[in-house]
Amino acid sequence: MIIGCPKEIKPQEFRVGMTPIAAGEAVAHGHKVVIETQAGIGAGFPDEDYIAAGAEILGTAAEVFKTADMIVKVKEPQAIERKMLREGQVLFTYLHLAPDPEQTKDLLASGCTAIAYETVTDNNGGLPLLAPMSEVAGKLAPQVGAWTLQKANGGRGVLMGGVPGVGPARVVVIGGGVVGTNAARVAAGMGADVTVLDRSLARLRYLDDVFGRDFKTSYASAGNTIELVRQADMVVGAVLVPGAAAPKLVSRAQLSEMKPGAALVDVAIDQGGCFETSHATTHQDPIYEVDGIMHYCVANMPGAVARTSTIALGNATMPFMLALADKGWKQACTDDPHLLNGLNVHAGQLTYYAVGEALGIDVISPSLVIK
Ligand SMILES: NC(=O)c1ccc[n+]([C@@H]2O[C@H](COP(=O)([O-])OP(=O)(O)OC[C@H]3O[C@@H](n4cnc5c(N)ncnc54)[C@H](O)[C@@H]3O)[C@@H](O)[C@H]2O)c1
Repeated sequence: MIIGCPKEIKPQEFRVGMTPIAAGEAVAHGHKVVIETQAGIGAGFPDEDYIAAGAEILGTAAEVFKTADMIVKVKEPQAIERKMLREGQVLFTYLHLAPDPEQTKDLLASGCTAIAYETVTDNNGGLPLLAPMSEVAGKLAPQVGAWTLQKANGGRGVLMGGVPGVGPARVVVIGGGVVGTNAARVAAGMGADVTVLDRSLARLRYLDDVFGRDFKTSYASAGNTIELVRQADMVVGAVLVPGAAAPKLVSRAQLSEMKPGAALVDVAIDQGGCFETSHATTHQDPIYEVDGIMHYCVANMPGAVARTSTIALGNATMPFMLALADKGWKQACTDDPHLLNGLNVHAGQLTYYAVGEALGIDVISPSLVIK
């Protein structure tokens, strides 16, 4: 198979769909890999690294799209990229089609077979191609929150770990899933006094068993949540209700009960945010203030650490990418029901029920498509 990887063109996107290591593995499996020139530069991978791995460098995205049987990317294809997709071509990338009727229409019109990272599943009911980015965002949250707490940035002027004779910052993490656990571990590692809130008792039990010495847990009743938020120097929003907008857990009125200069880091902003006063920000202009409380609400946090994120994503996507290349998409999806769950579009038909429901488009069962 010829596998192609274009340079990402979405603004502020520095990740790349294939690392030189992934390219090398595909070449070792007998495939040809074509990479758009400079595709990896934002993540610290120059063309020479891909050439050394056995890949070929092409001058333009158009050449990559024209040559490749399968396109491997990071972000959903932009309008100009969608025009270059063709019937029979496989697209393997993040898609997030449910809120994006334009992209869905174009992918259906292209005739391509599109497999979305975010709907591939695993044996534990998890989303293995989303988890690495949640790990990155979770570990970044206390880092950016600590910066936000600095006086010059409008924060309270509190040091995460304190010093002898001065207590540490109080950090409250709402949602103890992948983002929340990683945020709590890093905040605790910085010496902060950390409490994680969740609505799942099973999850709280797990966190207490594994991390009980590092941070406390608390049930996320409305009363507990607001009590802890009032005392906090930093609050990390890390909740997820699958398929739904994030619940608003701190209202604007409640900001006035918080410590002036406290920091809200709303990682759940990509699902609408879990604080009433959150709105999405960018890496250029990440923070703003409402009623004396500092907000950090960057919707694509992993982009700040493009190299780590690219390698983490590549580690997770590589086995699926190799299966698709080695067996062809149909056999790979037949052999692996978790990969089949990633199938969103095939030959002009939608194959993912939640997207069909969100957009009012008929869906054909993916198991019929692979027959
Ligand atoms: N901003 C970014 O760059 C970025 C990057 C990665 C992930 N995210 C977002 O971070 C959020 C969390 O992702 P995740 O991978 O950790 O999800 P997850 O499913 O692993 O964890 C979510 C947790 O929230 C808990 N929860 C749900 N409702 C709750 C409530 N009302 N109160 C307390 N806890 C509640 C769940 O029980 C679960 O443990 C998602 O919205 C995800 O899209 C954002």
